[in-house]
Amino acid sequence: MIADSGLASRRKAEEMIAQGRVTVNGRTVRELGTKVDPERDHVKVDGRHLKPVPPQVFVMLNKPKGYMSSLSDPAGRQTITDLLPGVGLRVFPVGRLDYDSEGLMLLTNQGELAQALLHPRYHVPKTYLIKVKGVLTDEEIASLERGVELEDGLTSPAVVKKIRKAEENSWLEITIHEGRKHQVKRMLEVVGHPVIKLTRVRFGPLNLRDLPLGEYRYLTDREANA
Ligand code: URA
Repeated sequence: MIADSGLASRRKAEEMIAQGRVTVNGRTVRELGTKVDPERDHVKVDGRHLKPVPPQVFVMLNKPKGYMSSLSDPAGRQTITDLLPGVGLRVFPVGRLDYDSEGLMLLTNQGELAQALLHPRYHVPKTYLIKVKGVLTDEEIASLERGVELEDGLTSPAVVKKIRKAEENSWLEITIHEGRKHQVKRMLEVVGHPVIKLTRVRFGPLNLRDLPLGEYRYLTDREANA
């Protein structure tokens, strides 16, 4: 708890304990590894109360279509809150996904990080697997990659990968670094191939992989650090 509060490193915290500078509920403890409950026990270092720091929480959700990506909805539709039972601390979605879109959503209680991840300055790439009407020509793909003109301006460079084509539709992967409203749908609309289905599969270093639709999991330490 001392290290988690940011007061000292783990090693320094152990020294403080060994030196008798730490009390738990008014009694000096010298035993390393003494367990405390940060919510209930009163821990002091050098006579100063240590405030418990809430743990950092990072959740990855695979949002199905038919859910709002917000925590509540004035119109009473289902929201991602319905998919997050058991997440005790309050977490906030980092960005949005359309009601009819699916895929990776990150949620966290780390507000500053969430802001930064959304800021265009940091260029966090987002990759979408999309099914579109028709089959794109190489020239249409090149124009998506260069940037297309939307009502709110030219889009920044994107990367488009062909995945497979069917009779009337085709599947693509598109990676963008911005997050304007309905951006992918609007980009494909401009080149004449409306989006039929859209799934976010990657967000920065995070990969949706085989997380089942409608389920969530906590990030691993490695993912959270990345
Ligand atoms: N682009 C869209 O058009 N919709 C989404 O949900 C995400 C990206």
